[in-house]
Amino acid sequence: MAKNCLCLTGKTIKQNVDLLNKYRNFADLAELRVDCLDAEERLYLRRFPELAGVPVILTVRRDVDGGYFNSGEGARLKLLANGLAYANADSRFNFAYVDIEEDFNAPSLEEAARTFGTRIIRSCHDLKGAINDIPAKIKSMKRAGDEIVKVAISVKSTYDVLNVFRASNTFIKQDKILICMGHYGIYSRILAEKFGSFLAYSSALSENVIPGAPGQMDVRELSELYHFKRITKNTKIYGVIGNPLKSSISPWFFNTIFNLENADCVYVPFPVTDINDFLDLADGLEIQGLSITVPYKETVLPYIEEKSAIAHSIGACNTMYRNRRGDAWYGDNTDYAGFTASLLNFLDRKDLKRRKITIVGAGGVSRAVAAEIYKMGGKALILNRTVHKAANIASRYNFRWGGLDHQGIGLMSKYNDIIIQTTSVGMEGYDNSDPLELYEFSGKESVMDLIYSPAQTPFLKRAASAGCRTLNGYDMVIRQACLQYANFFDREIPKTHLSQIYSLGASGWDRIASG
Ligand code: ATR
Repeated sequence: MAKNCLCLTGKTIKQNVDLLNKYRNFADLAELRVDCLDAEERLYLRRFPELAGVPVILTVRRDVDGGYFNSGEGARLKLLANGLAYANADSRFNFAYVDIEEDFNAPSLEEAARTFGTRIIRSCHDLKGAINDIPAKIKSMKRAGDEIVKVAISVKSTYDVLNVFRASNTFIKQDKILICMGHYGIYSRILAEKFGSFLAYSSALSENVIPGAPGQMDVRELSELYHFKRITKNTKIYGVIGNPLKSSISPWFFNTIFNLENADCVYVPFPVTDINDFLDLADGLEIQGLSITVPYKETVLPYIEEKSAIAHSIGACNTMYRNRRGDAWYGDNTDYAGFTASLLNFLDRKDLKRRKITIVGAGGVSRAVAAEIYKMGGKALILNRTVHKAANIASRYNFRWGGLDHQGIGLMSKYNDIIIQTTSVGMEGYDNSDPLELYEFSGKESVMDLIYSPAQTPFLKRAASAGCRTLNGYDMVIRQACLQYANFFDREIPKTHLSQIYSLGASGWDRIASG
């Protein structure tokens, strides 16, 4: 099974030992990055395996390979020799592995390593992502039978990841480390076992140490959110695709449920540059089900054999899952039902007849909200910064429209039973203002903001302090995820598990989101 290797980039031996002690439960082994140590600390590197108490990789990464060492090959050879010197008969006191680049030539050092059971990791770091024939590369790098070949490639597209995955299937029996560096390869680290990698490197990202390599994941997140050590060849994969993949609650939701159910499943974020390449990869990885976000909700349609009635009428899917035989994708759209169920439950109503509603925003989400409000018999006013977009949506349903200016806000006096905020304003990492700042709440309005992170936007906070009943997007997103779950597994989430999700609530999610 793939091992979780904690990459230690502290400046001192003590700092690295402290980090290791803090995250010991998650790490199967550690990598001492000597290139990150202060110069005087490097004198003591030989002591590290004994202090570590887990198998340790000795690495002095050059700057040209993405590391921090720039003092020349002579000095580097000396450090590596120091690390391997005075080998102890008890192998726990020696470095278990030494990382040596493919162009590094020091036969006597390699011989010494082998004699005392230190395994050689023969590495290649392709920072430009130029290697195309990865199997040929792996074949050419290996020098002796017990070596582990490591190929770390910067990936810029889903095609690059697919290329690495295909290569991983060529050398099934051989211990190798395959890494897709960078944002688009992040899931190859979570799915190291499926990519046939001997290990995945992680870092203590929350500890303010320098990153070991681009795209390395936080050691705790890898273990506690994705349950890395439980992922085997048989684990079923689910996930979310998008680009850019905004911070999403779905990995937390699904992995929490899987954990409660003790299910052999994992839910992974897939930042995707090309849907066709990704679906090839999905076949290779035997991915069972996907949530779909911007910009792929329409792009996936040609790949879907059978759509639900709602997905068909809207012309967009937010969910795809395999049919029983596993040879075709089915599609659904749970966004709408999630929103409607959440709103009606909040209002304690069965429909929106005789309700006057203001919808703030006129993007993709607003379009879906307007369609649902119309279906439920409500009358709405759509207000948007760019007025013609509001007019465009409103005119389909005989709704009114306006801008977010005094004139538009003036129209709200007749549309303020319910106010629904659909823009990204107030969302974590976006514009932290109030899109409806010109409106004064009376306290009688029911106010829904579709944002769930943060739990209370400035807009929702102002509504609540004026005495309004308020609801954020958490309930809606959980409801739509429950519907996705029902698609994936053909059954409902057990009520006890769902009540745990609600009781963990935004705080459970926030803890993961903020690391
Ligand atoms: P989504 O699919 O999430 O709805 P979108 O289609 O990009 O995303 O729409 C974003 C919505 O947020 C739009 O209504 C946008 O207003 P414009 O149509 O005028 O762009 C709105 N929005 C984004 N930033 C805003 C801001 N700073 N103030 C007011 N509205 C904003």
